[in-house]
Amino acid sequence: MGKVHVVDHPLIQHKLTLMRDIATPTQTFRQLLNEIGMMLCYEVTRDLPTEPVEVETPLGRTMKPQLSGKKLVFAPILRAGVGFLDGMLELVPAARVAHIGLYRDPVTLQAVEYYFKAPSDVAERLVIVMDPMLATGHSAIAAISRLKERGVHDIRFVCLLAAPEGLATFQAALPDVPVWTAAIDDHLNDHGYIVPGLGDAGDRIYGTK
Ligand code: URA
Repeated sequence: MGKVHVVDHPLIQHKLTLMRDIATPTQTFRQLLNEIGMMLCYEVTRDLPTEPVEVETPLGRTMKPQLSGKKLVFAPILRAGVGFLDGMLELVPAARVAHIGLYRDPVTLQAVEYYFKAPSDVAERLVIVMDPMLATGHSAIAAISRLKERGVHDIRFVCLLAAPEGLATFQAALPDVPVWTAAIDDHLNDHGYIVPGLGDAGDRIYGTK
């Protein structure tokens, strides 16, 4: 079973509570998501390999660590996943980006793909797939399955909130993909929304409601 990392850092939890508040305006919501994205990026990259390299400081030569191993691709699931992207790129500016466009069929709640664009060497990279809400799990599973079809086998998933039901579905379908989330909420309602959650993440990021 893929490991689930709940990142319960007090700064993240504080910002998440502000995001849940119905009174939080769009601009603040977007800013907070970017800030949490940056902090989750810090956690999801915590075990990246390093190798010693020689560096000359003003006081002499020394061997110190530098990132080694696979290069990164950030893969936001459109559209809410893009809300995480700037924060993540702030920390890893050299990362490439793959966009995966999925929408949720309102009746079946299944993910339908409408866009996919990834770097040509995506299969050789570590891909961090991001979507704020892991609700039913269908979108995340569809996006990651698409990446796997392209030959990617080193994948991590980052979200802000997960529903226990979606997490179980995700882990059953993708036992090799670890998950980072800021919280696991109570349940999924009949409309596929996370409760208590924060509402529709896309609408709150982009002010479309
Ligand atoms: N997508 C959202 O934006 N919010 C939810 O609660 C579930 C899915």
